[in-house]
Amino acid sequence: MNAIAAQHARVLSGMRPTGRLHLGHYHGVLKNWVELQHEYQCFFFVADWHALTTHYDDPSDIPQNTWDMVIDWLAAGVNPKEATLFVQSRVPEHAELHLLLSMITPLGWLERVPTYKDQQEKLKEKDLSTFGFLGYPLLQSADILVYRAGLVPVGEDQVVHVELTREVARRFNHIYGREPDFEQKAEQAIRKMGKKNARLFNNYRKAYQEKGDDEALAAARALLEVQQNIGVADRDRLFGYLEGGGMVILPEPQPLLTRAPRMPGLDGQKMSKSYGNTISLAASPQEVEKQLRTMPTDPARVRRNDPGDPKNCPVWQFHEVYSDERMQEWVQQGCLSAGIGCVECKQPIIEAVLNELKPIQERVREYEEQPDLVRNILNEGCEAAREIARETMDEVRHAMSLDY
Ligand code: TRP
Ligand code: SF4
Repeated sequence: MNAIAAQHARVLSGMRPTGRLHLGHYHGVLKNWVELQHEYQCFFFVADWHALTTHYDDPSDIPQNTWDMVIDWLAAGVNPKEATLFVQSRVPEHAELHLLLSMITPLGWLERVPTYKDQQEKLKEKDLSTFGFLGYPLLQSADILVYRAGLVPVGEDQVVHVELTREVARRFNHIYGREPDFEQKAEQAIRKMGKKNARLFNNYRKAYQEKGDDEALAAARALLEVQQNIGVADRDRLFGYLEGGGMVILPEPQPLLTRAPRMPGLDGQKMSKSYGNTISLAASPQEVEKQLRTMPTDPARVRRNDPGDPKNCPVWQFHEVYSDERMQEWVQQGCLSAGIGCVECKQPIIEAVLNELKPIQERVREYEEQPDLVRNILNEGCEAAREIARETMDEVRHAMSLDY
């Protein structure tokens, strides 16, 4: 597949191996992955090298965390027949591209990424003034670009990394997409499409470049995608030529923000391991019950007869995720009028969470009983990922005069 056509079809996302996942991951990320896998060619991977940038001093947990996390993905419904699941360090092409991109990435671009200083502040007890940590977002760029992914599902905090990726790709194409005889080659490629298509392409190109006609741009792209007579390199040339640039070797990806409702934690803040307010996907029914029974409610309801206000209560946020309109109405009325007690109000949430976790935990058990199956899924995923990554690297090496 050529760069642009592949890009339209591909989704890529990664997670650092933090071990067992929680309900925040499930609602915020995994349900979204499960939907995307039906629509796109999806690549989901364990970012174990990224984990090393902050845990270089004790990497011993990473393998178990990787294993637990992949099993949680599978149990949540990520389907290895639809999506490619793999481990970053098993696809060394990521590292090669990271190195090559590092040659053209200005230090200032990395120093200015806000997560760099933020994380150093947040993880003060660690020495994060390392080369690897500074390069964290560039490694992420390599992760994305090595598959020429078009869409990258990420949370808000990661959008800046996708932005950096776009800038790095643009710079790469600008420097290496300009062959000395680019225009000649592009004109030659146009002729290879045949008279009629060549004329069409030229008209579209003119309409786009002279009048900014976006429909013409889309039509020209569609035309290129169905051409049988031109090879991958020619097509990449023409995609660039169309827009007035050089070859598009590494297309610019877009972030895909998840529109899932915010999953509240047990204290009403966003559910996150660093706040210690999570419900683990592996939590036993007893644990779930205990966690929800002891979670705080509106502080105004000291006694059963004191009315409360769902606005000030984290339990209400759970009702927003789990309850239908009727139930929500019952909570509102019952709370404001002190008609229901908090224990009563929590009961449907406890049931909803238990119902949600039950099938996931059953599937976790099934996968845990079949370690060979999980190993095979990852082995096959790594091989499939490498195949695509190798194609990109062939072109990247060629563009950088590294094909001996
Ligand atoms: N940095 C991401 C996170 O912390 C994980 C990640 C690594 C990633 N490489 C990626 C996400 C590539 C999307 C695409 O969540
Ligand atoms: Fe919260 Fe429900 Fe109690 Fe109201 S009744 S304070 S919404 S737990």
